[in-house]
Amino acid sequence: MRTVPTDQNRTLASLLLRVDRSLPAPLHAQLDQALRGRILSGAVAPGTRLPSSRTLAAELGVARTTVLQALEALQAEGYLVAAPRSGVRVAPELPVEGLAPQPSRSSSPVSPPRLSRAARALRSSGTGAPRLGPAPRPFRPGLPALDLFPAALWSRIVARTQARASARLLEGGDSAGHPGLRRAIAEHVIAARGVRCVPDQIFITGGTQQAFEEVLRLLVDPGDEVWLEDPGYLGAQRAVLGASATPVPVPVDGEGLDVEAGIRRAPRARLAILAPSHQYPLGVTLSLPRRMALLRWAAAQRALVLEDDYDSEFRHRGRPLTALQGLDEAGRVLYVGTFSKTMFPGMRLGYVVVPPPLVEVFSAARASLPAPVSGLEQAALAAFMDQGHFARHLRRMRGVYRERAEALLDALHTRCAGLLEPRPCDTGMQLCAMLPTDVSDVAVRDRAAGLGVEVGAVSDYALRLRRTGGLVFGFGAIRPAAIRAGVETLARALDG
Ligand SMILES: Cc1ncc(COP(=O)(O)O)c(C=O)c1O
Repeated sequence: MRTVPTDQNRTLASLLLRVDRSLPAPLHAQLDQALRGRILSGAVAPGTRLPSSRTLAAELGVARTTVLQALEALQAEGYLVAAPRSGVRVAPELPVEGLAPQPSRSSSPVSPPRLSRAARALRSSGTGAPRLGPAPRPFRPGLPALDLFPAALWSRIVARTQARASARLLEGGDSAGHPGLRRAIAEHVIAARGVRCVPDQIFITGGTQQAFEEVLRLLVDPGDEVWLEDPGYLGAQRAVLGASATPVPVPVDGEGLDVEAGIRRAPRARLAILAPSHQYPLGVTLSLPRRMALLRWAAAQRALVLEDDYDSEFRHRGRPLTALQGLDEAGRVLYVGTFSKTMFPGMRLGYVVVPPPLVEVFSAARASLPAPVSGLEQAALAAFMDQGHFARHLRRMRGVYRERAEALLDALHTRCAGLLEPRPCDTGMQLCAMLPTDVSDVAVRDRAAGLGVEVGAVSDYALRLRRTGGLVFGFGAIRPAAIRAGVETLARALDG
């Protein structure tokens, strides 16, 4: 390691130590870590006498107290010993057995750990995290209007919950989830989504993704076929691959998932995962005939349906559509909801409503792997819902998202006519607009990114090659004026 001493980065040649003021770690901790590393690697031999703290401080360009702090910490742990008149030396024996200097391993290549089948499938699928820039720009899909979230009110409720927390809550709470929250969620999904359930059927999860993973772990074996919407939510595909199950892409058209195509491709699939109320990314609603066909198939095949209902609380106009779960007479549907859109994505809180015969197995599984969300946060959310703040926030945001959707549709129709065909949008906070078949959505997406506009490309969500591409616009977090400006920029990317 050769480094030119500068103000930012100084090296003590004899020990090859360095500190870097641009790093967040305190200088004494950097020095402690660097010297410890040199001792453990054998580069500084046991018994070596160190320069005085004054010399070290001068050469490293740090305060002497910084050096003393690092040396004292290493002495306390037994890496260094101080002897009268002979200064500080590296201990003749290292404090921990097995940490003796090892020969350098740089010549023998390190073989990476063996990966599981699931991890290999995940790696080769390319469904990693979507390409995102550091800060969200218009129109990053998936973001709610976080600036309109009543953050101060939420903080007060969290603080009050914490102050009044019961011993039971502090111990860790109920493994299925906080009882008050399960009750509040049951009331919400019954009233707002037409779900049929009692609180016992509700299991709190760390968001949709964790709900998918739990359902797959308990109900699908490796190799089992699982229908996935194509194009569809990549999180569903990741969960299927993570369970070593076999994804079966099922096309989506203007009526939603093509159930007949699914039956032709994999009649005996174990599970179908879909977002029937607001398909992602195309935004289609599953038609009633398709809903009935899907439920008939699931009942006949003893298959299950995982309903991802991630944003349908925000239906901008008309009566809310009933969830698929509310039509299910045979107990085949597991309904997954999330607070990522209705509250904020960082909350990482969702839930799965399981059919009554599955309550026992989910409860048993939770005995070893309890609800992955803090009990305090669950209790705070229960209070937020019980006091009517949640319903009030939803009402307000419904109006905000309606206005933003209209602004976006308006701007797209005016500025991108003939180049983009927006699909109708009456739910949620993103919409999809289709491109002519000879235009690559990925190329437009990349050109737009270069101009400062962030849209999704439908092809990125496709499991098989698609002929028609489109762009996905998130509008939830963007005010109408910024929406119009973003569409102006996008129009330039389309012209390019
Ligand atoms: C289709 C779909 N399902 C679910 C979610 C929410 O996932 P989570 O609850 O894990 O944040 C999203 C988020 O963008 C989504 O697009």
